[in-house]
Amino acid sequence: MTVGSVLVTGGCGYIGSFTALALLEADYNVVIVDNLQNSSKDTIDRIELICGKRPEFYNIDIRKEEDFDKVFDAHPDIDSVIHFAALKAVGESGEIPLEYYRTNVYGTICLLSSATKHNVSNIVFSSSATVYGDATRFENMIPIPEICPIGPTNPYGRTKATVESLITDHVEAQRNNLKKEGKSGDHWNAALLRYFNPAGSHPSGVMGEDPQGVPYNLLPLLAQVAVGKREKLLVFGDDYASKDGTAIRDYIHILDLAKGHLVALNYLRDHHPGVKAWNLGTGKGSTVFEMIKAFSDAVGKELPYQVVGRRAGDVLDLTANPTKANTELKWKAERTLYDACEDLWRWTKNNPQGYRQSPPQELLDK
Ligand code: NAD
Ligand code: WQD
Repeated sequence: MTVGSVLVTGGCGYIGSFTALALLEADYNVVIVDNLQNSSKDTIDRIELICGKRPEFYNIDIRKEEDFDKVFDAHPDIDSVIHFAALKAVGESGEIPLEYYRTNVYGTICLLSSATKHNVSNIVFSSSATVYGDATRFENMIPIPEICPIGPTNPYGRTKATVESLITDHVEAQRNNLKKEGKSGDHWNAALLRYFNPAGSHPSGVMGEDPQGVPYNLLPLLAQVAVGKREKLLVFGDDYASKDGTAIRDYIHILDLAKGHLVALNYLRDHHPGVKAWNLGTGKGSTVFEMIKAFSDAVGKELPYQVVGRRAGDVLDLTANPTKANTELKWKAERTLYDACEDLWRWTKNNPQGYRQSPPQELLDK
């Protein structure tokens, strides 16, 4: 007995794969589309290994509307989409902005256009806390509530803000057009999920983050230091106005983040709210030094680091105010930073080649 069918774009990637798993565990049918440019098809095997169900997979590029048409034609039962597929490296977005707009913005236009032809009208979108930019420019906006004015400071963030507007305009237009025809447009709904810093892996050690290139996020870099792939962590600045001088972020366990997508989708389907933005974060900020200590504790040894200058574009504090998601979605991050560090370490030490190796037998036996 399934509760519905969902298209997951970018479902072989880090957050998409964990969300696909959460959907399958909640008895949704899942159809993944991904062109595997930052992921691997082996992810699908790991999802099946954990939950005993296998999502359908299509290797398509989101910049081809006709390919979406074929997938929706083959799955007329799909009524919702969770849209992860995107390019996401902040630094790279400043070097090749056209590629970022082509994938993130034009790819979303292809998705929305095809979805509309196929009556797929619930959309959950991967936005990012990066749309807020530097919230310390306002008084009393840390922790950051959804009413904080957005102001992204890099091309990647501007593609996310643009797609938020694009989805909002499209959903509102669809609702209005249908109402003018005397029909209810209430089945058109969207969730704009602004995530803070995703962290961690599956507690089994079987699924985790496995990017194709060089990682640039703090925890994957620390993990490389722990296994000796990297000599030390470079700490980008210890002259911020924080308790230890390093920048503050809100690290949310990947399982809590994935659950946030499930509850947001259920909320759209049950409440028909139109367009809503929700922060998905813990509400608790941690400094870079606190993260080094937490991950070192999980690994059981001190990890070397060196303080260098600030990274361009970094801000002092990105901590969520998650009250709106807590109350409306009845969702709350349940796992701690220490859970994230321990799970990340279990994944890292057991899968040094990521998905390019079979999972260790002892993990499968558990
Ligand atoms: P990821 O790179 O692991 O996953 C993205 C997936 O999209 C990959 O599997 C990639 O192969 C696929 N993809 C990229 N371009 C494609 C295309 N043209 N056609 C089809 N598939 C394509 O990234 P992630 O960390 O899982 O992020 C997922 C989403 O969440 C992204 O939209 C990202 O911007 C957003 N986000 C990520 C973070 C983060 O820190 N990881 C934070 C906030 C928001
Ligand atoms: C975290 C902290 C760094 C690396 C990025 C994107 C954001 C979102 C999440 C997609 C910062 C410090 C890092 C290192 C360090 N992604 N750091 N040395 O920058 O908060 O957010 O990923 O939407 O849009 O900008 O995450 O993990 O890169 O950095 O000192 O080698 O760790 O300065 O304070 P960030 P991050």
